[in-house]
This record gives sequence, structure tokens and C-alpha cells, in this order.
Amino acid sequence: MPLPANPFAAAAARAVAKALDMAPDEFTVSAPPRAELGDFAVGLFPGAKAKKGAPPALAKQVADAFRPDGWLASAEAAGPFVNFRAERGAAFRHLFERAQGGGAPGRSPLVPAELGAGKTVCVDFSSPNIAKHLAYHHIRSTVIGNALVRLHRALGYRVVGINHLGDWGTPHGMLMAAYERWGAPDPLDITALNDLYVRFRAEAKGDPSLEAAGRAWFKRLEDGDPEARALWKRFREVSWGEFQQIYDQMGIVFDEVRGESEYEAAMPGVVALFVEKGLAQESEGALVVPVGDPPLLLRKSDGATTYHTRDLATALYRWQSYGFDRSLYVVDRGQGLHFKQLFDALKLAGFGWAARCTHVPFGLVRLGGKKTGTRTGNVVLLKEVFAEATRRSAALMRERNPELGEAEASAAAPVVGIGAVVFANLFAQREKDVDFEWEQVLNPSGDSGPYVQYGHARCASILRKAGAAPGGAPDPGRLAHEAEWTVARRLLDYGDVVARAAEGNEPHLLSHYLLDLCGDFSRWYTLGNGDPSLRVLCDDAGARAARLALVGAVKHVLSTGLHLLGLGAPEAM
Ligand code: ARG
Repeated sequence: MPLPANPFAAAAARAVAKALDMAPDEFTVSAPPRAELGDFAVGLFPGAKAKKGAPPALAKQVADAFRPDGWLASAEAAGPFVNFRAERGAAFRHLFERAQGGGAPGRSPLVPAELGAGKTVCVDFSSPNIAKHLAYHHIRSTVIGNALVRLHRALGYRVVGINHLGDWGTPHGMLMAAYERWGAPDPLDITALNDLYVRFRAEAKGDPSLEAAGRAWFKRLEDGDPEARALWKRFREVSWGEFQQIYDQMGIVFDEVRGESEYEAAMPGVVALFVEKGLAQESEGALVVPVGDPPLLLRKSDGATTYHTRDLATALYRWQSYGFDRSLYVVDRGQGLHFKQLFDALKLAGFGWAARCTHVPFGLVRLGGKKTGTRTGNVVLLKEVFAEATRRSAALMRERNPELGEAEASAAAPVVGIGAVVFANLFAQREKDVDFEWEQVLNPSGDSGPYVQYGHARCASILRKAGAAPGGAPDPGRLAHEAEWTVARRLLDYGDVVARAAEGNEPHLLSHYLLDLCGDFSRWYTLGNGDPSLRVLCDDAGARAARLALVGAVKHVLSTGLHLLGLGAPEAM
């Protein structure tokens, strides 16, 4: 286990290690089951093996040897664990100093930016197919991938966010055949392209000449026929223009947009590579690589290559271009076999780096209990979902906060609406399905994006009301209430949560953390309703300054955390 980024937790591992003369990274630091027991728990199980002692006896030995060290105030043995308490004053001071923004959005001195130093991560995400709507089911790849890009970047990794645009294959020939037969739609937009394709599919059932025409057009495209190329380019531009609008709404920027088409030139080389290594087998005129049943189809009997062949070329290209430490493919779990075979084929060919490639699968999205998808005919357009979310969040804000100015409300409406949709996709565990219900997604007091954004806006409002910060360092000694410590204790975990979310490709860990933090904050904040002396903006200047500093720290973590998940953090809503 690497040492926790939180220096107080790291001190607990070091205290144990020192007492037993072992290495700190052999121990895992967690939270005790109940907060009354302490702040950090370290299990003595690794010591039992190395020191040949029973964990409870070792725990006692560690607790007896413990001396306060500036980070930790006390240690107590509890069965096979030692529970440590942080030096609270030092912890508050640490947070006041570190929980400050200033750098790039999403950056925080609480997040260990050295963790990924010198390492490169490729993240293939969103990657829609052109000439089709970016429908609601694409959002999970887009949202999860974007969060993984931002999480890794915050940890100091070099990140290459890649859109592997689906712009090649026989469907594109079919589209051209449809265009030839039924004429150019006006306007030529993505809806028209989508409709053309659907019509082609329907009519091809009764008219086999259509399929042949589609194949012929794709052949022309492959052979570089200028008319076919020009048409395809046009379809691609129209599609990308549409996708771009949605990415802009979400604040998503790709470092590389490379379509499948761009790997065409590499196809003969990829096929040759597998042939030369003796890994390609003939099968009814086709070439296959024997990884699984059915095997990976390298080249069809008509000479055409496949989605798999292009992914082989893509993986090689990424390795040569970026020399990645991790290469992630954020693609729905229905493509699990595709990626398993892809990585197996690369391993078979002797590429050790294939072990660094990971499929990051995710579950489906259901709207009103129904699966969404272009093939299921239940297509829900992302831009319509966003528009609806924006309308609903505007209404919600008017209801909750009638004093909010018109300009502020209309600026916040898309941030809250789109943010709610994004958050809903990150709240569910990645591999679980998402049941999308508006009431839940926008519920300002539920497990929702708006709930976290409201927490942030509340911090902003308190700080606004307080006016200019008083000079001098706040005195942490004035933060004596247990509810204040609970907030601080939670804040200390932030950097390690970000690290775990990135390393495990589990952005939902951060969503849950932010919800918990808002809960702790709200429990502290609402104490002031019953007892004015506990208000943040109380009369006592010293207590007020210290509480404001804690509010500032909460605001910092909420705003950077929301950014890492791909959400905005309005100052008022
Ligand atoms: N375009 C594909 C689809 O929509 C996803 C591509 C994912 N990335 C990849 N390298 N295969 O199903």
C-alpha cells in the first residue's frame, strides 16, 4: 500500500512501523468503525507475520510506544487495531493552508500531484459513430471518461483524452447508397442522416440490391474515389458539428480526435504482423486470430478489415505515440468480449504493454424502466435531455430561491441541469445500470448534483455575507464542536479519495464523498439554527474567523471536486 496522501493518516502508518521496526507502506490506514473510537485505524495483521506475534499484543506494544508527534495526539489499542487521534489544531491549520485554489481549475494542494508524475494515461471515451445521433446511452462513456481524464490530470499524470470516432465501415457505404437513391436531404443534418440510414435498413430487407449498392459505395470510399470521399467527408463534418455542440455544453475537450478511418493505411501492416508471427489462420477465406470462439476476425473473406483490426492498429499507434502506463477504454460492457480478444491478441503477438490496457465497462441507462439505444428504437437525444434538465432546474431555482436575480438564475440553470444529468451517471456504481428519474436526479436534498452544488453555493453565500476576511491566521482552538471536527476529518480524506477514484477507475467514489461532505457540512451548519453561538457568522470574532476558514476549506473541496467530476459550481443558485 502506498502511504496515504493525508499526512495525518501517513503519520499513523509511520507510528506503527516505527514501533515494530517495519516499513510504513506495509500497513493500511482506514477509518475506525465509529468516529468516537478515533480518526485513523491501523490493523496489525502485516506485523503478525513479520514479527510472529498476535495482532492484539502488537497493537498494545504500538500504543504503549506511541508519543505525540505533532500530527497525532493519541493512540489506543483496540483488539488487532490501533486507533489514533489527530492533533486537531494541526489538522485545522493544515486544511486552512492547503484548501486553497488558485491554480488550474480542479487543482488542489490537498491532492497528491506527484502521484502520476512522469506517467501517461490514454483515455478513449465517448467515441460515437458518425451519422447517428449522440443519444442518451453515449453519455455514460462521455461522463465517466471525462471524470477519469480530470482525476488523473489532478494527480499529475500526463493524460491523453481520445475520441475514437466511428467513421469507417460498411454502414457508411449504405448511407451513400441511400443518399444516391433518395436524394440529398435538406437540411443535411444529423437527423436527416440518421433517418436515411434507418430507411435504408428497413428497405434493404425487401430489396437485396440495396445492400450490394452499399458495399459498392464503401469499396469506392476505400479505393479513394473522389465523389465517395467528398460525400463521406461531408457526413463526417455534419456529425462532428453536432457532437461538438454537446461537448461544448459539457465543457469537454479532447486531446486527440482520430477517426477509425485514419487507421486504414495501417491495416496491411497489422495483418502482415499477425501473419508473419504465424498467428493468423485461414478460415473460409477469412483471416482470424485464435483468441476465443468465435476467433478475432482480422480480415473478412472479401478483403475488408474490421472494427477489431482497426482497434489493433489503434492500440499500436497509441503505444508508439504515447508509451502509456495505462490505456483505458471507456466503453459499454456489451463490448467486453471485443476488448478481451483485442488485448489477448496483442499479448499473443508478444506485446507486454497489452497488460497496461484496460476496458472500463459500464452499465446501461434506463429511462422510465426502458433501455435506451439506437438499436432498441428508444433513442433519447442527449441535447433534448440537456434542454429539459435546464428548463427543470430553472423552475427549481425559482421555487427555492425567489431572491435569485434573473441573470444569475439563467447562468446557473444549464450548469445545474446538465450537472444533475452528469452526476446521476457518476453516482451509480460504474458497472450498475442507471435508472434515470427526473425527480431523483434533480432532487436538491437527495443524492444529486444539485445537492452538492447547493452545498457549495451555501458556502459561497456565507463567505459573501461575511465580507472581507479578517487579517491574521484563524485560531483553530476556537473550533471546539465535534460537528466541526467531523467536517475537518472528512476534508482530510479528499486527496486519497481522488487517488483511489483515479487508480480504480471509479469516479463514483468521489461523488459519494462529496455527498458525505455536504451532509457533514449541513449538520454542522444547521446547529446554528438552534443555538446562535454555534452559527458561522456568530458575534464572537475569533470563533467567526475560524469557522469562516473552515467554510472556505469546504468550498474549495466542493468546487474542485465538482470540477473533477465534470460539473460546474455556481456561486449562487
Ligand atoms: N464507436 C464505438 C461505438 O459506438 C465505440 C468505440 C470505442 N473505442 C474503441 N477503441 N473501440 O460502439
